[in-house]
Amino acid sequence: MATVIGGIGTSHVPAIGGAIARKLFQDPYWKPFFDGYVPAREWLAQARPDTVVMFYNDHGLNFFLDKMPTFAIGAAEEYRNADEGWGLPVQAPYKGHAKLSWHLIEAAVGNEFDVTTCQEMLVDHAFTVPLQLLFPGRERELRVVPIAVNTVQHPLPSPARCYKLGQTIGRALETFDGVERVLVIGSGGLSHQLDGTRAGFINKAFDLACLHTLVQAPEELTQYSALDLVEIAGSQGVELVNWIAMRGALSRAVRKVHSHYHIPISNTAAGLLVLEQRNATRAAV
Ligand code: DHB
Ligand code: FE
Repeated sequence: MATVIGGIGTSHVPAIGGAIARKLFQDPYWKPFFDGYVPAREWLAQARPDTVVMFYNDHGLNFFLDKMPTFAIGAAEEYRNADEGWGLPVQAPYKGHAKLSWHLIEAAVGNEFDVTTCQEMLVDHAFTVPLQLLFPGRERELRVVPIAVNTVQHPLPSPARCYKLGQTIGRALETFDGVERVLVIGSGGLSHQLDGTRAGFINKAFDLACLHTLVQAPEELTQYSALDLVEIAGSQGVELVNWIAMRGALSRAVRKVHSHYHIPISNTAAGLLVLEQRNATRAAV
């Protein structure tokens, strides 16, 4: 039986990848942001996950507006990154876990989520940046399962639907016949809007409320529609649904290990939330 050790929600702004490439960890603009990740890495060093299941959204690298699955699950032995046009260095491939992927796909389809299955899948900054922040230099020791949620081409899946997908994935992880120690990541948000007359929009009060609500009462966030989230958190702030899916994959009760909030990174309110699964056994050290 695989063990879910916990979940992490984190923002995924491309500029973070640029700052990592240029090692700007002590730069005055970047230091307060990067410092927020130190306690997360300390917890990960104790919790020792070897597998990552990540809810994220693709921004046009693998899926474009012409063909946009609502939910897509990677089922590859390897995931490649590619140039998205942000000037970021292309990352080396990540190791997949096809056996676990197919188990999760079976569970998702069995629970009436008609997902797209991807035996080839390019992963963009939304996937690479969280791994760079949380496992610097060790990203390729992990095995990964990317789960792409459409937050780009309307109509978008509702927060309630994303939460249910997360619950389905969480239950399926616990019935997987393996010894994996799984970290679930939700990548995106918090509030931001990159386009239109509200470009630059940030909603600090809502973000801070989410960091609180996601711990103890995540189902409250499932009351919103996707369009409500666009209005409240911005047209890209709707990426919060990836955090909601991550939270759905965890036990009802969790321990909050750490949270961090920093405005702005590029146009985004950068958030981080680290949750430990209740009853997650610690790895032998
Ligand atoms: C930015 C934020 C995002 O979530 C993204 O995918 C791309 C850019 C930004 O704030 O620059
Ligand atoms: Fe994004």
